[in-house]
Amino acid sequence: MNYLPAPFSFRPFLAVGLLGLAAMISGCSKSTDTAKTDAAPAAGKKAGAVKIGFYVKQPEEPWFQLEWKFADQAARELGFTLVKMGGNDGEKALAAIDNFAAGGAQGFVICTPDTKLGPAIVNKARAVNLKFIAVDDQFLGADGQPLKNVHYLGISARKIGESVGDTLAAEMKKRGFALADTAVCAVTYDELATAKERTDGAIARLMAAGIPKERIFRAPMRTTDIPGALDSTNTLLTQQSGVKHWLVCGTNDNAVLGAIRALEGRGFAPESCVGIGINGTDCIVELEKAKPTSFHGSMLLSAKEHGYKTAEMLYKWIKDGVEPPLDTRTVGTLITRENFRQVLKDQGVRE
Ligand code: GLA
Repeated sequence: MNYLPAPFSFRPFLAVGLLGLAAMISGCSKSTDTAKTDAAPAAGKKAGAVKIGFYVKQPEEPWFQLEWKFADQAARELGFTLVKMGGNDGEKALAAIDNFAAGGAQGFVICTPDTKLGPAIVNKARAVNLKFIAVDDQFLGADGQPLKNVHYLGISARKIGESVGDTLAAEMKKRGFALADTAVCAVTYDELATAKERTDGAIARLMAAGIPKERIFRAPMRTTDIPGALDSTNTLLTQQSGVKHWLVCGTNDNAVLGAIRALEGRGFAPESCVGIGINGTDCIVELEKAKPTSFHGSMLLSAKEHGYKTAEMLYKWIKDGVEPPLDTRTVGTLITRENFRQVLKDQGVRE
């Protein structure tokens, strides 16, 4: 490769020589700077060695599988290694942090199984010297308040919940449900702040639309999955047998899907009830069913922002020292049977 004219091939050596001389003249601190500059190619190599962990609380939920899919895409496009772990168990989450560190990761993204684990996660991450970002579920401090000094990316839960409420109220009017025959079933999980904000937001808008407080019923889930929602809704339906039309909101798609299955079990016709979920990723099979069910639609969240962007922010923080913003919020878009195929395609969720 020595085909360059001599002056060109000598130039780098000359530059290095001069830099070295300058460093010697101007003392130690400068020589450290020079060393950094000289280490640039090595740092470039190191960029390929960035390793990031990604822990999710419910790996069986399509939402979390999509977060991982988009984080994988970030790893491929930006050139780092992604290590995925998950499970709805606090001990497992804490052990995963040790595993990430032992495996050579420099940071991790986490949707914690329990937001009250926040301080323990912070301490563990500090102990093993890992940077991290909380995704979806914001850590709580010992006082039950959000840990605002922990980097977090999550949804604008209250606003998205309000959109659910507005959509349910509009559907009620469109379908001509009489107020006296209609009630609200809110499938809640108030232990989780982002979940509570969603159902509180929906309830507030339904009340603003004229549904009296005493026609709004909460069905608190014991577990945040379809069976949990099915059970809690069944309990409610046993107590409230005189309702003709149920408007269903919940913490996410699975909460609403469980409620819809409970309504079907009680013989409610598909057109007599309306449910709107949140996530938009866990209801695709439902929307694809040939015969419509009472599951009218969902507020589609951006799994790409949550999976790709968190991983990218962490990567840049590790590699370039660019600290991400402390609080990033994402929005939702309503999908229904009419538009879901196109919107999911536009957002890269579906081919
Ligand atoms: C929580 C829910 C998930 C999903 C995310 C979105 O973690 O459990 O289903 O809605 O929030 O941030």
